[in-house]
Amino acid sequence: MEKTIDEKAQGNTLILEAKKENSKKLYLESYGCAMNFSDSEIVASILADQGYNTTNLMEEADLVLVNTCSIRDKAEQTIRKRLEKYNAVKRSSNPKMKVGVLGCMAERLKEKLLEEEKIVDLVVGPDAYKDIPNLLQEVEEGREAVNVILSKEETYGDISPVRLGGNGITAFVSITRGCDNMCTFCVVPFTRGRERSRDPHSILNEINDLAERGYKEITLLGQNVDSYLWYGGGLKKDFKNASEMQKVTATDFAQLLDLVATAQPKMRIRFSTSNPQDMCEDVLHVVAKHKNICNHIHLPVQSGSTRILKEMNRQHTREEYIKLIDKILEIIPDCIISQDMIIGFPTETEADHQDTLSLMEYVKYGFGYMYKYSERPGTLAARKLEDDVPEEIKSRRLTEVVNLQQKHSAFRTESFLGKTVTVLIEKESKKNVDEWSGRTEHNNVAVFPKRNYKPGDFVKVKVNDCTTATLIGEAVGYS
Ligand code: SAH
Ligand code: F3S
Repeated sequence: MEKTIDEKAQGNTLILEAKKENSKKLYLESYGCAMNFSDSEIVASILADQGYNTTNLMEEADLVLVNTCSIRDKAEQTIRKRLEKYNAVKRSSNPKMKVGVLGCMAERLKEKLLEEEKIVDLVVGPDAYKDIPNLLQEVEEGREAVNVILSKEETYGDISPVRLGGNGITAFVSITRGCDNMCTFCVVPFTRGRERSRDPHSILNEINDLAERGYKEITLLGQNVDSYLWYGGGLKKDFKNASEMQKVTATDFAQLLDLVATAQPKMRIRFSTSNPQDMCEDVLHVVAKHKNICNHIHLPVQSGSTRILKEMNRQHTREEYIKLIDKILEIIPDCIISQDMIIGFPTETEADHQDTLSLMEYVKYGFGYMYKYSERPGTLAARKLEDDVPEEIKSRRLTEVVNLQQKHSAFRTESFLGKTVTVLIEKESKKNVDEWSGRTEHNNVAVFPKRNYKPGDFVKVKVNDCTTATLIGEAVGYS
């Protein structure tokens, strides 16, 4: 199943086709959300022009980079352990290697990382990747190098990311960077800066190029895609100061989605992440209008309690969220909705928790990502609210939420039994070499005997059986 944070992909190294003229070796490991994985492709592209080919052997790398996540404490602890591992390799077999930390943890800890982790030579925030060649020069000359400047404009629109590490069929295309929402628990606005959108022309060029290279599915990516707004460049918050001309010619998310779906009618289009406070009806009509836009919306709610939502600064109530769900289903009747949930936010009572469970009962999400609250230094919640829900209560509530989600996932998956669904074949099934694995527009994984089909084909699959999240069936023709 596609995930905003794909647990299976965590720590993957990015391997690209080697350029003959390149002699240096880059080992690039990525953690966290899809945006980080997409950023790593940009970094690899920048370094390919600096003489680096990728490797999956740390022992032979000249440069080891790790793209990091700060969303929860555990994510940062994972990175600290990896840095220890790099250090061990450096000491035992590769004394020449340099180590750089990229991404959210670099941005959050800045120079402190150099002091705390003696192994680190280079610290680069998410808006400073174009500066990596200069920073490497500094490192070569024996200095530690840091650039954590957040930008008003940077969207990397002019860099075409290298994709050869993926499956050649599905790709992420980033459309916005940063976030202005300031949810009180969230570190993203601090690590990724203010929200800005990418030029629709550069987005379309990238997608057209992917289509030419045989890609069949793209996911438009942003912390908050509904907030997309292009008015010639600059921060979203400065739109109010734009000229009249800029205002009338601006492109919002509904328009962008329409443009993309129209330009590539044969490609499957997804988008992530939607935010309830910013999602508008126009977007829903565009989804309903285009067959090639998947009827699946990832719509994190975080809690079912209006009081907690207010403490989280989520800008909507439980009732408003329910109205939005009703609206989605009115306009896109077979839409599957998925969630992110935070369990045990400060002050969460048993009644608040019950509100979360009853909201889940109402929506019956297709799937979800559920985590215990993790206090993040510097966020408003950390400054204003004590992390007062005891660990064992957090754990118990998380189990209840996860179990209920399992039940709903099974309910949603079973609803496809006996039906015929369209599947985009992505790869061989991990469990059976004679079967293909792909996904439906509702984001269920489907497996079925290979026959003469091949990866990249859209096929009709008759569903005969299922597990909680996987459809099992047989192909009955091309779609
Ligand atoms: N809008 C973003 C959200 C980024 S964070 C997106 O594109 O997905 C992803 C998810 O991590 C959030 O929806 C939230 O459920 C979870 N999360 C964020 N901060 C957290 C924290 N401090 N503790 C636990 N979970 C958190
Ligand atoms: Fe974080 Fe809320 Fe933005 S969860 S990424 S501040 S929408």
